[in-house]
Amino acid sequence: MTVAADALTRVPELIDPARAPAEPSTERGYLDLMGGAAPRVEGPAQRLMLTRLLPVIYERWWRPAWGRVLTGTSAAGERRIASQLLELGPGDRVLDLACGPGNFTRDFAASVGADGLCVGLDASPTMLERAVQDTPTGEVAFVRADAMALPFRDGSFDAVCCFAALNLIPDPYATLDEIVRVLAPGGRVALLTSSTAGPPPLPTLERLAGRLTGMHVFGAGELVAALEGRGLMDARRRGNGFAQFVAARSSPG
Ligand SMILES: C[S@@+](CC[C@H](N)C(=O)[O-])C[C@H]1O[C@@H](n2cnc3c(N)ncnc32)[C@H](O)[C@@H]1O
Repeated sequence: MTVAADALTRVPELIDPARAPAEPSTERGYLDLMGGAAPRVEGPAQRLMLTRLLPVIYERWWRPAWGRVLTGTSAAGERRIASQLLELGPGDRVLDLACGPGNFTRDFAASVGADGLCVGLDASPTMLERAVQDTPTGEVAFVRADAMALPFRDGSFDAVCCFAALNLIPDPYATLDEIVRVLAPGGRVALLTSSTAGPPPLPTLERLAGRLTGMHVFGAGELVAALEGRGLMDARRRGNGFAQFVAARSSPG
């Protein structure tokens, strides 16, 4: 088992003891703050994320195919968009929230370099096992925790990315609260998630279909308003049919 010792040893400085169990484990190569607790699951889409099979095919087949259909962009194109929106530079601390098997996380680690810190967080043990297996030792600290209740201190990160996950998380607004809380002054946030497309009554039908699969379908202006309502600046969105990229920054302080 590969243990990402370097980055992992630097994570405790970001952890708020009041938000994490007293005895976390690292025996699987990631910092497990959930122990035996199962993540809250509200539909088949999220249940898939906990299977053994999906992490095996995710990065090579599953994600590029869905990415193309929903955003019209290749995996490399999505990585470029993430990198532009997050404005990562050497020395930054970046959180890849709901990182899956680390398909974006590794790229972020290269951007922030050895002086920075790259943390990938997910609730699925099988996704994290794959992430640890596919990531060179020490480059990324993977953490198992719930996106709706992050274990980090306020202002821990210069950038937070949450791609292809907000639509799956049972309470996306609690997750946005947490993203904003852990963002440092001048920090950047980038989201990729679902979007309603087309004139009424299509959005109502899309939301209904989403609910059947356990997914949130966000209205076109909904997330920009949610980020602005939480005090972020420069909130903007780029819609691509059924998906949207949304970005914003916290005030410089
Ligand atoms: C579709 S994958 C996205 C992976 C990667 N960010 C990407 O863009 O390809 C969604 C991930 O969200 C994770 N997830 C869902 N609910 C979560 C929660 N409450 N806390 C942390 N991770 C969660 C799942 O385990 C899964 O790995």
